[in-house]
Amino acid sequence: MKNILVTGGAGFIGSNFINYILKSRDDYFIVNLDKLTYAGNLENLKECESNKNYTFIKGDITNSELVNYLFEKYKIKYVINFAAESHVDRSISGSEVFFRTNVIGTNVLLEASRRFEVKRFLQISTDEVYGSLGATGLFTEQTPISPNSPYSASKAAADMMVQAFHHTYGLPTVITRCSNNYGQLQFPEKLIPLMIINALQDKKLPVYGDGMNIRDWIYVIDHNKAVELVFEKGKSGEVYNVGASNEIPNIEIVKLILQNLGKSNDLIEFVKDRPGHDKRYAIDSTKIQNELGWQPQYKFESAIKHTIDWYLNNKSWWKKIISGEYQQYYLQQYSTKKKN
Ligand code: NAD
Ligand code: DAU
Repeated sequence: MKNILVTGGAGFIGSNFINYILKSRDDYFIVNLDKLTYAGNLENLKECESNKNYTFIKGDITNSELVNYLFEKYKIKYVINFAAESHVDRSISGSEVFFRTNVIGTNVLLEASRRFEVKRFLQISTDEVYGSLGATGLFTEQTPISPNSPYSASKAAADMMVQAFHHTYGLPTVITRCSNNYGQLQFPEKLIPLMIINALQDKKLPVYGDGMNIRDWIYVIDHNKAVELVFEKGKSGEVYNVGASNEIPNIEIVKLILQNLGKSNDLIEFVKDRPGHDKRYAIDSTKIQNELGWQPQYKFESAIKHTIDWYLNNKSWWKKIISGEYQQYYLQQYSTKKKN
């Protein structure tokens, strides 16, 4: 049995990971440590609640006393660190919590991992640490780190600490850097779920700038299969890019959502751009494909339809979210963005 500390497992990617992995493996015992910030939601994990290979702990990864206690109690030998403040716009409004969770939190986990001699530490990073691309080129693992937002700078700092622990102490670390994920259970502050639920409510769809920024979209299950593979077979000290070669300008995604829901493009509203908005992300995932045999399995056309249907059929999930503090967030984030 592998005793694995999974952090941030109540968020979008982490909960999809736990739901997926507990179905496919019976040799993992998962301790899910999550602070349940605005982005954490135990409803995402209903299907695992009674699984004997799973337990949930509410707590903060920056709390070293708690982290050390959990390592000892559950004889943790493996760590997968999904926990993070993950939204670029929120990092622009205030960077402190990003530094605390993403940098200090990762450091606390690294120190405990060193002390308890873990066999594998997997850091879930992001392609945003590479910065922004122009019209051509792809991010490879050799692309220099050049983050632009407080979010991506904090993720880059965490990556540097992970690599320093490998280099200095020989900690068996691996890092994944994935592109933009979509799928069920994503908090509706991110582009795709926000546009879907606004369209479902006949609210305006706020597109930043001219809508021509490009992201490289991957279905969350494809990302999580890559996470499983890197966790099992990745080479210590290495970084693996993960992407599905699926570049799409934002405006096209928004129109596709409207078309799928039978809504008019009149709902689109171009608003003030995100400060420091990265133009384009695009991932070269040759390394993970050649070395570990990973391939994306989901086609965008069908997986995005499936995702839209999920939000259509799970209104109670997102209605609960948007009735809370989300309203205040939305007002703060978007009321100042209207173009004159
Ligand atoms: P999310 O915001 O949906 O979930 C983050 C989770 O971490 C939440 O459950 C939250 O409660 C928890 N958390 C936050 N601070 C914590 C703390 N101090 N202690 C314990 N738990 C804490 O994020 P996500 O989109 O699922 O992203 C997960 C990871 O994947 C992040 O590390 C992110 O940087 C990375 N990533 C995300 C994407 C994407 O497209 N969403 C792409 C590449 C990489
Ligand atoms: O690339 C991986 C990263 O992708 C992850 O590391 C981050 O955690 C994740 O949030 C995501 O970052 P982005 O900034 O690319 O995602 P977001 O969904 O916030 O925005 C996607 C694009 O859509 C971006 O160009 C900004 C634009 N956008 C976003 C929102 C929320 C809009 O035009 N309008 C919006 O309201």
